[in-house]
Amino acid sequence: MKGKFITFEGIDGAGKSSQHAWAVEHLRSKGIDVVSTREPGGTPLGEKLRGLLLSESMHLETEALLMFAARREHLAQVILPALSRGAWVLSDRFTDASFAYQGGGRGLELAKLQQLENWVQGTGSDAIQPDLTFIFDLPVAQAQERRNGTGTAPDRFEQEKLDFHERVRSAYLARAAEFAHRIRVIDARHTVADINNLLEKEIASLC
Ligand code: TYD
Repeated sequence: MKGKFITFEGIDGAGKSSQHAWAVEHLRSKGIDVVSTREPGGTPLGEKLRGLLLSESMHLETEALLMFAARREHLAQVILPALSRGAWVLSDRFTDASFAYQGGGRGLELAKLQQLENWVQGTGSDAIQPDLTFIFDLPVAQAQERRNGTGTAPDRFEQEKLDFHERVRSAYLARAAEFAHRIRVIDARHTVADINNLLEKEIASLC
C-alpha cells in the first residue's frame, strides 16, 4: 500500500468530525491526494446500511455484522483502491468504533468482533490497519452538552444513556493502551487551534 490511512474516533460529541474535516483540508492544501470518507457509510450501499443502523432497532450481533458488511464494501470500493494509487484515506470512524460501541457499549464479546475484523481486514502482516488513529477524548457529560448544543435530532446511538457512552469511552481508552503504536488520544477539551497543531505534528510524522 502506497498511501496512508488515518482514522478519527471518539464518543459522539467529542469533535472528531470537525477535526477530520480540518485534516482533510490541511493535507489537500499541501497538494496531497486525499479521500475523505466515513463509517458506517462511504459507499452507496454503506450509506444505505448506515441509514438502517442509525434508525432501526436490531439484535446486537446483527448490528455488528452490518457494521462489518458496510466496512467490507468500503474497503473494496474506496479504501483499498485509494491506498494502492497512493492517496491518503481519512476516515471518520473505522473498526475501533466497532470495538468501542458494539463491544464496550453493547457488550458483544470481543472475540466475535475480532473474528469479523480478521475476516474483513485480514490477519498478520497483510492485515489492513490504519497507520494512525486519533481518539478524541472528553468526559461523557461534556460531550453530551456539546451534542445538545447542535440542535440535530439524536440518532439511535446518541439516544443511549450516559452509562452506555461511559463504556464506549472506556473501551476506546483500552484500545489506545493496547495499540499505542498507532493510536493517539487527543484531549478534546483543548482549544480547536491547539488540537489542529497536535494533529499537524502527528500527521507530519507519517510524511
Ligand atoms: P458518526 O459518524 O459519529 O455520526 P454523526 O453523524 O452523528 O457524526 O457515527 C454514527 C454512529 O455509528 C456513532 O454513534 C457510532 C456508531 N458506530 C458504531 O456503533 N460502530 C461502528 O463500527 C461505527 C463505524 C460507528
